[in-house]
Amino acid sequence: MSTNEIRVDVGVLREEIRKTYTDVSVDQDQDYIFPTGRSWARELGYPEPELGRVPDATVESFAGVANHWRLGRVDPGEVVLDLGCGAGTDLLIAAQMTGPSGRVIGVDMTPAMLERARDSAAAMGLANVELHESLIEALPLGDASVDVVISNGVIDLVPDKDAVLDEIDRVLRPGGRLQLADVVIHHEVSEDARERIDLWTG
Ligand SMILES: C[S@@+](CC[C@H](N)C(=O)[O-])C[C@H]1O[C@@H](n2cnc3c(N)ncnc32)[C@H](O)[C@@H]1O
Repeated sequence: MSTNEIRVDVGVLREEIRKTYTDVSVDQDQDYIFPTGRSWARELGYPEPELGRVPDATVESFAGVANHWRLGRVDPGEVVLDLGCGAGTDLLIAAQMTGPSGRVIGVDMTPAMLERARDSAAAMGLANVELHESLIEALPLGDASVDVVISNGVIDLVPDKDAVLDEIDRVLRPGGRLQLADVVIHHEVSEDARERIDLWTG
């Protein structure tokens, strides 16, 4: 989709998304219209023992849509970027896989989510975690600076998907890997549905 075809007010949409995921980060007991938490990550078959070591403060705010770890692990020493890292479940799993010789970078636009990721990284004693409050459409990273890009349940929330894919293409080194879990719709979305912010945020 090009920017010209975006039919929602992107500023309003981002605010609604921030509200939704601030709730997910602060109220972990609420039932949301999408599954969340450790039981969901386990059901998806998230990798152990890494998942088990990530604190509840993070995993109970997990809001991924599927298990991209089925596509592969990351290797020791690699630089990993998590687009829309949320409270940090995938990020902190990747940080254990890549180890102290590697680095993981989380980018998200919701401060409350990043706070959870930061606190959990500190609680786990992980020094190889870097966090940025930023849009994934404009990454604060250099060209060809990342070995693996991961993302779970985020790109579906962004109207300008071309901007995200261009940024992935820019920051991934030649031969780098993209590992995504996301929502795919197999039929054309109606004009009415494209304009409904409530359908985008869920
Ligand atoms: C469904 S949650 C998934 C979070 C995390 N990947 C997980 O699996 O738990 C979506 C996350 O994407 C973030 N997000 C949505 N649109 C974004 C954008 N354009 N730029 C940066 N972050 C965004 C939200 O703040 C939220 O934390």
